[in-house]
Amino acid sequence: MVNIRLAAACLAAASALMAQPSASMPTSPSIRSPTDHPIAKRRFQLPTFNNQDELEEWTEQHKAGLRAKYASKLQDSHKRETQAAEERRRKRRRSLQARDQVGDVSLINYQHDSTFYAPVSIGSQGHSVNIVLDTGSSDFWTVQGKDGWNPAQSSSFVNSTTPFKITYGSGSVSGTLASDSVTLAGQTANKQKFAIATYISQGLLGDAVEGIMGLGFPSLSTSKSTPFWQNVGATEFSFYLASENSTFTSSNSDKAPGGTFTLGGRNTTLFKGDINWSDVIDESYWLITLGGVTVNNQVVNLQGTNKVAVDTGTTLIGAPASIVDQIYSQVPNSKQLSSGYYTFPCAETSTSATLHFGNQEYTLTSNDLIAGTVDTTGTMCLGAFFSIGSTSKDELQYILGDAFLMNVYSIFSNAGKTAQVGFASLADGLGSSTASRTVNSVVAANAAIGSASLTSYPFVALTLFVAFITTFAV
Ligand SMILES: *[C@@H]1O[C@H](CO)[C@@H](O)[C@H](O)[C@H]1NC(C)=O
Ligand SMILES: *[C@@H]1O[C@H](CO)[C@@H](O)[C@H](O)[C@H]1NC(C)=O
Ligand SMILES: *[C@@H]1O[C@H](CO)[C@@H](O)[C@H](O)[C@H]1NC(C)=O
Ligand SMILES: *[C@@H]1O[C@H](CO)[C@@H](O)[C@H](O)[C@H]1NC(C)=O
Repeated sequence: MVNIRLAAACLAAASALMAQPSASMPTSPSIRSPTDHPIAKRRFQLPTFNNQDELEEWTEQHKAGLRAKYASKLQDSHKRETQAAEERRRKRRRSLQARDQVGDVSLINYQHDSTFYAPVSIGSQGHSVNIVLDTGSSDFWTVQGKDGWNPAQSSSFVNSTTPFKITYGSGSVSGTLASDSVTLAGQTANKQKFAIATYISQGLLGDAVEGIMGLGFPSLSTSKSTPFWQNVGATEFSFYLASENSTFTSSNSDKAPGGTFTLGGRNTTLFKGDINWSDVIDESYWLITLGGVTVNNQVVNLQGTNKVAVDTGTTLIGAPASIVDQIYSQVPNSKQLSSGYYTFPCAETSTSATLHFGNQEYTLTSNDLIAGTVDTTGTMCLGAFFSIGSTSKDELQYILGDAFLMNVYSIFSNAGKTAQVGFASLADGLGSSTASRTVNSVVAANAAIGSASLTSYPFVALTLFVAFITTFAV
């Protein structure tokens, strides 16, 4: 799962928080549809920390997991060239073929906006597993043993002796590579390579999740297999990630309707208006360019960083340390944890931040900027932007996760010469306000920043953990 988007969103959010701690943002009722549905704001609680050390330890662990993910980026230039050539051939072949088949599948929003999964069917008997669809990685693995499932009972199952191991900062997954027919959103790859995990370190996955399917590019695959979406010949797929708030689900359940994944295209009933595209600058993650960040209308100095991985498998927004510091310097009473995370008073609700992609500026409100409370009284909250450390040498500098993506319809297209990621406004009634305005109208728009607001439900910070486990580090 690419975390680039998260980073951008975090920056934007942070900027917003800092600049205008108490001024209320003017809003345009015609655009801010969520105000039609007053809902008491709910915030989820992080695990209980007895002291600052425990909190630091927890955030350190998550950070370690993230770093492990980035460290897995591992391609030598020769391999990349070979892959690039293969990709060009593949695209040429594709252009001669018929249009993509299109199919939809409903997603489940798990653990309060932490992660999104879909049912994936494996083998001749159609065994269904709950799989996180992760644009920030490119391997597919699932667990054996749940409900007594034995993958070998499928007549099309082909085992191998090739071991598969994924190590995270806070745990690991291991097993064996195999192949079988795999079906998602009505489309089947007959010989999809995937790993059957026989060991998953405790706590890596929420109970309901049974694996991860990477929707990134082949160069990111540690098992060197073709990702499912390319195996079925899809040149496009799209996400509507429904926030828990937008579906009015009781917070008592850890599962809520999570929106729709469309494989092979886009579902025009789920978005409105134009799609705003950004070119993918490196086909590994879905890596796009960040054009700018502001917090409370103050411009953040990006110091040359701008590479954003759009990552449906990450809950929050990661950014370079120096950027995150700038963001939170605008948030009154924010406190840095040694791990690179920040906390700030939950009452600090007037902060907003913007992220620029393409010619559009996307605004995050304080709702997007709060990952969850860190104390039982709901006084201090964990910020959505977190530091992924110094990134001067990293190809990936920001991680744009669900905290941002829940506010837009996102389209991942590999149909043209250059792969692209597109964002469009969610259709009316799907729970988000309009997400953007053109960048060259920023000055005029500053007076009406609320009209371009993105709103989302604060995710449970626990889900950060889930995002990290999607990392396929060697
Ligand atoms: C598009 O989404 C709507 C609403 O979820 C669904 O009813 C419809 O079947 C979808 N269309 C396609 C082509 O999958
Ligand atoms: C596949 O082969 C490996 C290695 O021989 C073995 O450990 C594993 O149990 C096999 N898996 C199945 C599902 O038969
Ligand atoms: C896309 O661009 C159009 C025109 O510039 C704009 O009206 C629309 O709101 C944009 N939508 C998103 C989600 O960026
Ligand atoms: C949920 O949505 C309502 C309006 O639709 C908004 O006022 C509220 O702040 C949202 N809650 C969260 C936690 O985002």
